[in-house]
This record gives sequence, structure tokens and C-alpha cells, in this order.
Amino acid sequence: MENPIKNKNILLGVTGSIAAYKVVELASQLTKAGANVDVILTPSAEKLVPPLTFRSVTGKKVFTDTDLWDTTSHIAHINLALPADIMLVAPATASTIAKLAHGQTDNLLTLTALAIRCPLVVAPAMDAGMYSNVFTQENLEILTQHGISILGPEEGHLASGLTGKGRMLEPRILFGSLRFLLSRENPLAGKKVVVTAGGTQEPIDPVRMITNNSSGKQGYAIAQAALDAGADVTLISAPTALTPPQGVKMISIKTAQEMHSAIKDEVKQAHAVIMTAAVADFRPAKSSKEKIKKDGKLQDIKLEATVDILKELGEFKRSQKPELILIGFAAESENLLQNAEKKLAQKNLDLIVANDISRKDAGFAVDSNTVTILFNDGKKQDLPLQSKELIAQKIIDILIDFMQS
Ligand code: CTP
Repeated sequence: MENPIKNKNILLGVTGSIAAYKVVELASQLTKAGANVDVILTPSAEKLVPPLTFRSVTGKKVFTDTDLWDTTSHIAHINLALPADIMLVAPATASTIAKLAHGQTDNLLTLTALAIRCPLVVAPAMDAGMYSNVFTQENLEILTQHGISILGPEEGHLASGLTGKGRMLEPRILFGSLRFLLSRENPLAGKKVVVTAGGTQEPIDPVRMITNNSSGKQGYAIAQAALDAGADVTLISAPTALTPPQGVKMISIKTAQEMHSAIKDEVKQAHAVIMTAAVADFRPAKSSKEKIKKDGKLQDIKLEATVDILKELGEFKRSQKPELILIGFAAESENLLQNAEKKLAQKNLDLIVANDISRKDAGFAVDSNTVTILFNDGKKQDLPLQSKELIAQKIIDILIDFMQS
């Protein structure tokens, strides 16, 4: 599935907070992702960021109150409102929030917000005192009660120089939230998918550990693709440098044992599990509470086996939940297909994604991948070299087919 922003009509209402300049970046990101972005500026937003700035990133006419009254436009607010798939007001000032909460319409933005038939989303931005003011809080409560999503604000540096709660969420987060909200009716709606990612860390002492080269990139891309397809996604992740996708239920773990206990809880409600994580097969039999000193007598590190989580899930599928779809990954540096086939059978999987980690352009830590997918009915499908995002989309397309068959 493509990203759910593509070809969507997004109304971006911008009001008079200095965070308006950041929304230019959001308009740009949405346009690059294939959305049709119509920007509406209130008179005060126009003073902070001129229409031409937004026009330069969306490539489209930007709407202001002039469009309400000039002789060439006809019912501008209705023409903007009807085709919209979602409307985001960002930044939303206390004044616009008050107007939205009470159905007041004194400019093109508030008129359009009253006329839309699509979801409305509001990203407040204001001084911390104005945000915590009882009237603002009551107005936000009214919006929430009517099903309007409020995104943020967050704590941080404010225009006044003070620090407090009132800062608009970053454009990247707003983009992710729109992406999430626009995906909820896609084919995996109502399905729960558990994805694991990253390389587990097995401690030797408080500062040392055994881990591996997994970056988590493929797993995070799969979690995003599953969200884009409409699923409720739990991401059980070992430490990575990545930002979790918006809308995911994130469970952060370190060790194989922690991943094992997290997955045991999550799998009960799950329709599918995708084990992308590079789980340690061995861990130090004892982990020292204190840092091991170099003048100590450490000769060697005794290892013990960890649980094969996916194998255990395969047994659970066989004995209790045959409808559970299990997808594994096989990281191989030799005999790729034979080894992957063995794992597919031994772990009772529906399919396994065979990853040749001896290549420089595929597998661990790089941005691209090429894989062969082996199905339990003997079929095979090669996915040529492409980004991990595209590989993830194709794996999720296969999952959609499985769920629909
Ligand atoms: N896996 C798991 N628990 C483990 C080890 C692996 O759930 N303790 C999962 C991985 O997440 C992956 C699949 O099993 O989806 C295959 O992992 P891989 O490391 O390729 O193979 P192993 O089963 O560990 O076997 P080997 O190391 O001998 O290749």
C-alpha cells in the first residue's frame, strides 16, 4: 500500500501564532508525499507568513479572507470544505480554538471549518498561561467531546522566552499524525499486528553487552507500512536510533527475555506477528551487577541459550491459534534459501523473508534491501534491490492478501 497521504485533499488552516512559519515545512512535506494541500491563512497568520511562502511550497493558490469578498470567487469556504479528506488547524491560537468550540465564523478559516464534512484536527500553539487558562481548557474539552483530535501542545521553549506547555508539535510529528489518521479505514483496519525490531542487548555487566549489527530500520519500516494499511500496530523494539512511527503502540525492551515476555502478552490479541528483530541466540549465563575490573580474574564469558521466541510462537499457532499469521526473517550469510526453508518449517511460519547479509547493499544497517520470500506452500517471490520502505510495503501487501483469503 502506498502512503495514505498520497492524493488526499488536505486543508491546512494557519492562524496567527509565530509557529506558523514551521507549518511551511509541514505543507512542503505533505506536498512531497503526494497530497493536494490547500492552505487557508487568517488575517493575523498572513502578517507572520505571506501567502507567497506557502504558495512556493504547495505550488497552489493560497486562500485568505480576500477570497471571501472578492467578486471572482464564489462560496470559497464551501468549495474548499467539500472535497477535503481532513482539515488541520496548525498552529491553532487560543482565539481560533474558542471560535471553533462555539461555532463562530468571522473569517475564511473558521467558516470553512464549520462547513467541512471530514475530520478536523487541531494543533494548539500559545503561551503556557493562555493554554492552561480555564477558558482555553474548557474550549479544548468541547472540541474533544465532539470527536476533534487535539495534537499537542508540548513542553518547551516559547516565543516569550519562557519554558512551558504551549509549543506546537514539530511538523514531523504533525505529518505522522495526519498519516495515521488518514490510514484508519485501510484494509487492515481492526487487525492487530505485532512487529519486533532491532538487535537485542544481553548484558555482561552494567557497561558491557553482547549485541549485533541490526539497526531496526527494516522493522520500523514494516511497522509504518502496517499502520499505513490501517492496522493497530505494536512495535516491540530493542534500542535503536530511530523514531517510532506516529500511532504505534511502542514497547521498548533490551534483552531477548524482555522481548519474549512482551510478546507473550501481545500475541493473545494479535492477528499477525512479524519477527524482524535480530534476537540474540545466546546470553551471558551471569551478568555482573558491578563493572568487571580489568585486573580481575575474568577468563571467559559463559553463555546460555535464549528462548527461540518465533519457534515458541509457531508451537502456540499449531496448538492454540492456527489463524495467527507468523512471518519470520532469516538472516543468512551462506546457503540462503536452504537455511530459510528449514526455519520456515521448523518454526511453523506462514512465510519467511530470506535476507542475504553478506551483501553490502542489503540486510543489516543499510537503507536498502533485497530479499526472497518463501511461503509455506513452496512458492517463492524475489524482491529486487530497493529501499527498506518499499520492501516493507510489499511484505504488508502480502499480509493483506493473507488476511483477505
Ligand atoms: N528468532 C527468535 N528468537 C530467537 C532467535 C531468532 O524469535 N532466539 C527469530 C528472528 O526474529 C527471525 C527468525 O527467528 O525472525 C530467524 O532468526 P535467525 O537469526 O535468522 O535464525 P536463528 O533461528 O537464530 O538460527 P541461526 O542463528 O542458526 O541462523
